[in-house]
Amino acid sequence: MTRSASRHDLYAIIHKAMRLCMTDALVRFGRMDADDDEERAEAIEAVRSMLDLAAVHLEDENRFVHPALAARCADAAERSAREHAEHEREIESLRTGLRTLERAAPTERSGHALRLYRQLALYVAENFVHMHHEETHNMRALWAHYDDDELRAIEQAIVASIEPQTMARFVGWMFPAVSHPERVALLPEEAPPELVELALDAVDARLGRRERDRLAASRSGTVIMACAA
Ligand SMILES: [Fe+2]
Repeated sequence: MTRSASRHDLYAIIHKAMRLCMTDALVRFGRMDADDDEERAEAIEAVRSMLDLAAVHLEDENRFVHPALAARCADAAERSAREHAEHEREIESLRTGLRTLERAAPTERSGHALRLYRQLALYVAENFVHMHHEETHNMRALWAHYDDDELRAIEQAIVASIEPQTMARFVGWMFPAVSHPERVALLPEEAPPELVELALDAVDARLGRRERDRLAASRSGTVIMACAA
C-alpha cells in the first residue's frame, strides 16, 4: 500500500471528480421542486451534464485503459468492461427518464421525479463500487506491468483525445474535488495559463475565495497577477 502512494495513479484524481459530479447531480435532483419550471430544468441539466461526462469517462477507459490491461494483465479488465456495458445501458435509460420527466403532465411530475431520483441513486452507488474496483484491483494490475512513464503516456493519450470544451468541464469538477496539495501538483510551473484560470475559477465557484487564493498563492507572481485581474 505504501508503494502505491509513490506510483502514478490513473484513476485517483478523475474518480474524485466523477464522485463529486455524480453526488452533486444526485443531491440537486433530490431537492428539486418538480413543479418549479426553472428548478426542474436546472436539475435535469445537471444530471444530463453528469451523464455526458460519465459516458466520455467510460469511453476513455474502454479506449485507452482496458487495452493496456488486456495487453499485459490477462483478464484484469473483464469485470470493469462488463460493468461499463451495464453503465452504458443505464445512462441511456436515465436519459430516457429525463426526457419523460420533461414531457410529463403536471400531475405525474413529482412521482416520476422520485422514481428517477431512486434510479439515479442506484446508478451512482453502482459507480462507487465500480470505481473502487478499478482503483484497487485494476490499478494494482497496471502497476505490476507498467512503469510510471508508460502510465503517464496512457494518461496523455486520454487527455489529448478529449475535446477542449469537455476537458474544461472535467477540470471544473476535478479541482474542487481534490485536496489542496493535489491541486498544486495538477498545476505545474509549465501549466497553460488557460488551465490555471479554469482551475482557479472552479475552486472559487465551488469552494470560495479563500481556497482560490490559497491555490493562486502557490503559483508564481506573474500567474497570480494574470488570473486575479
Ligand atoms: Fe470505469
